[in-house]
Amino acid sequence: MFDTLPEQPADALLALIGLYRADPRPQKLDLGVGVYRDDSGVTPIMAAVKAAEKVLLETRTTKAYLGPEGDPVYTDLLKPIVFGKDPGGRVAGIQTPGGTGAVRLAADLVALARPDAKILYGAPTWPNHLQILNATRLKAVPHPYFDVKAQTVNVASLVAAIESASAGDVVLLHGCCHNPTGGELEPADWRTVLKALQETGVVPLIDFAYHGLGKGLEGDAYGVRLLTDNLDEVMVAYSCDKNFGLYRERVGALYVKARDEKAASVVMSNLAAFSRVSWSMPPDHGAAIVRTILEDPELTRIWREEIDRMGARVRGVRSALAAAGPGLKAHETQTGMFSTLALGPEQVLALRKDHAVYMAGSGRINVAGLHVRDIPAFVTALKAVGYP
Ligand code: LMR
Repeated sequence: MFDTLPEQPADALLALIGLYRADPRPQKLDLGVGVYRDDSGVTPIMAAVKAAEKVLLETRTTKAYLGPEGDPVYTDLLKPIVFGKDPGGRVAGIQTPGGTGAVRLAADLVALARPDAKILYGAPTWPNHLQILNATRLKAVPHPYFDVKAQTVNVASLVAAIESASAGDVVLLHGCCHNPTGGELEPADWRTVLKALQETGVVPLIDFAYHGLGKGLEGDAYGVRLLTDNLDEVMVAYSCDKNFGLYRERVGALYVKARDEKAASVVMSNLAAFSRVSWSMPPDHGAAIVRTILEDPELTRIWREEIDRMGARVRGVRSALAAAGPGLKAHETQTGMFSTLALGPEQVLALRKDHAVYMAGSGRINVAGLHVRDIPAFVTALKAVGYP
């Protein structure tokens, strides 16, 4: 039976991990997959995480099943971090395997509730968004969000896309640290988007995967909190993989605000049913670490300080990059770990082959992969392939 299957291409972004590892050149630069790196190029296990793991090792007495919702204490403890307060009984929350699991559950929910809904998305977006939407057979409709050549966000086209859609359609937004461009909605833009959503009844699905790595935990949450406070229906796909450094543990959550508590409980029953048929129950270890940290004020303080330091390092590299050449100026105003340079596929390939600089095929770089001392070599490599 398997001879009917088409061969699938490897995920281009994840394939970079293996290519980089296999490259023997000592000066190689990994600006590919979006993981945070410290000054020594390491993706560290955060001190709060190490301490929480110790607590878990010593105090856990069972690994018995939890259920398709995962650990509700974990999803509840995260709520004030995400929403700035307890958002009340209208917000259902379910633990998911990473932010990807949360986006997938949200797409499953929309596909069941409104199979003919359009999902508006700003191009370019994280490539896996489109793969997930295709997998759920939802109709994904693009609008130009970011002009890579001019390095500008096109708020007018986002608003026009919302205004041309109908109540019950969905718009996919990035909560902060836009992946792949770093092109952010400013508070005034979020307010304009809110108004368009209120007028049309289009429902936001906010992918909030890099919370804390841009303007800090409060600044990064502006849009998520504004929309959740002022709209009847909102979906927030959250990831702790990046801001707790728990990548391979796969730790996320999907929050859905519904019209009232009864509707939220129906939403929750559907999310639990999707969880059951997809992964049955989410993996616990990473969520248990987050729970242990958030239950302990001292560990929470240590974690907050660590995430602040990580955000500050990313901002520092951005400033240094912006100062390194006129073609890199926009890096200063962009936010989070990613920027997309106006590079064609041949230039990206030449950077990898001739200069051992690894980045996504789209020209996206992970700024956190750079150390300030690498910047001159990076700029020289860019110039060698014709980047201004
Ligand atoms: C990225 O965009 O590099 C990360 O979100 C990792 C991934 O799963 O694609």
